[in-house]
Amino acid sequence: MKIAETIAEARRLREGLPGPVGLVPTMGFLHDGHLALIRRSRAENSLMVVSVFVNPAQFGPQEDFKTYPRDIERDLKILARENTDIVFLPSVEEMYPPGFDGWVDMGKIARRLEGASRPGHFRGVATVVAKLFNIVQPTKAYFGQKDAQQTIVIKKMVADLDMNLKVVTVPTVRETDGLAISSRNAYLNTEERQAAAVLYRSLCLGQQLWAEGEKGAGKIREQMTAFIQSEPFTTIDYVSIAEPETLEEMAVVKTPALVSLAVRIGKTRLIDNVVLE
Ligand code: PAJ
Repeated sequence: MKIAETIAEARRLREGLPGPVGLVPTMGFLHDGHLALIRRSRAENSLMVVSVFVNPAQFGPQEDFKTYPRDIERDLKILARENTDIVFLPSVEEMYPPGFDGWVDMGKIARRLEGASRPGHFRGVATVVAKLFNIVQPTKAYFGQKDAQQTIVIKKMVADLDMNLKVVTVPTVRETDGLAISSRNAYLNTEERQAAAVLYRSLCLGQQLWAEGEKGAGKIREQMTAFIQSEPFTTIDYVSIAEPETLEEMAVVKTPALVSLAVRIGKTRLIDNVVLE
């Protein structure tokens, strides 16, 4: 396993290597969700590149950039065990040198849902991912369904800007009680951790109501909202039933539909989603 800390070094290691290259972009503190992407990439490509970079551009001024969990020694051990060929581990200065001022703005879909709650978030995500694509030039890049809107934004960026790679979506990896695995779960205390199971349970409730014949999106949102509010420590940011390409809210549920939510458990903001199809 080779570690590249500069863009030049990453390019040099990538150069001249034949066969398909898989890229898994991460912010590190690796968990089983990341591993699902890494193993899929390993299986589908002859060369596997994983980037570990906590991207300041996608965090708001009041968000957790400084305290975001980091453990690079542990990450490197995991990546070596998973037969990673190249780890790209740039510094903030390497990715955003003085004078940096070019951004990727993905328009309307980047301003809904997560984008409405976190202004500028997807500008930071799209920009860093575009840079990673240009640096690594992967054949395929792997993203999790857990961050559904992020994957949708990246797919649209690749299509709209004619980027020459395939974006692969990997299903959400969950804990036994259904909670989607996330680095931010580490912020939860014992009671909050128990309460956090309400996210997935409410998504299942929405799915069940729809399967039983309820097609009014408003009705389903209402019942999911009431269910989440019945759990302690919860503050709802949004509960959405939207068209998966445009992310426009539906009045009547038509498949496929993306049911997604963001809920604060205590101070920790968690997101999750399911697709009705
Ligand atoms: P990070 O939160 O580290 O996640 C890296 C990738 O792992 C993302 O594609 C995310 O959707 C996926 N992932 C996280 N938890 C998952 C789970 N439980 N099941 C399946 N996949 C999961 O997302 C980011 O980093 C950043 O925004 C990044 C794309 C690296 C750009 O900075």
